[in-house]
Amino acid sequence: MRRPLIAGNWKMNLNRADAVALAKGLADADTSVDCDILVCPSNVYLDAVSNAISGSGISIGAQDVYFEASGAFTGETSTSMIADVGCTYVILGHSERRHVIGECDMLINKKVVSALAAGLTPVLCVGETLEDREAGNTQKVVESQFDGSLAGLTEDQIRKTVIAYEPVWAIGTGKTASPEQAQEVHADLRKLLADRYNSETSETVRILYGGSVKPANAADLMSQADIDGALVGGASLKADSFAAIINAAGVAAA
Ligand code: PGA
Repeated sequence: MRRPLIAGNWKMNLNRADAVALAKGLADADTSVDCDILVCPSNVYLDAVSNAISGSGISIGAQDVYFEASGAFTGETSTSMIADVGCTYVILGHSERRHVIGECDMLINKKVVSALAAGLTPVLCVGETLEDREAGNTQKVVESQFDGSLAGLTEDQIRKTVIAYEPVWAIGTGKTASPEQAQEVHADLRKLLADRYNSETSETVRILYGGSVKPANAADLMSQADIDGALVGGASLKADSFAAIINAAGVAAA
């Protein structure tokens, strides 16, 4: 069975004191459910948050990473640097990096490969814009991001990868995909995994949903057959709402 993963993407929010307080609040929260918990603060607070969650069982990840090992890449951070401050995960290809910063599948693919080589778990995001959805292109867009961003991965590597379906129109907008809309794309992704690899691999890979996940909609989303957890933005910035989402996932998985 796939163990649920609830990941908090803190984006470019919080200061050092607030990030540490949130991490400690989560470490102390009553989340005695059987699922993996991940927080992804800004790079500059990785070390501080890593210390704050030490011993709690909560994992820490970065929101992005560069693919080169070291050298003259001003402003970038390498996989070994984030691993050095405790990261075991890294979010890659988030829609804000694709659409605001302008990252393409080829670059994201290099990052995925480099993260896996460093022993990190990539959380690879895919998702269509509203325009794509309205034009009936959701499946096509998601398939092309899947093939481009995950190109060349071996069966062993894809099994170590987490996929996050995040419809761009649902991110930070308060508009959530309905559980049925989300499930439809998750099922398509699982079919792609079976097609490009095999059915056993497809049943192994965790596929998270992201886009305005809140305590009120988490249980319904998470009870869908192919939704294995959530990538949460806004609602991960408060310990009580993130803990409520974690507990909803635990209930749905039980
Ligand atoms: P949101 O963000 O929960 O605020 O919609 C999700 C994400 O971007 O990962």
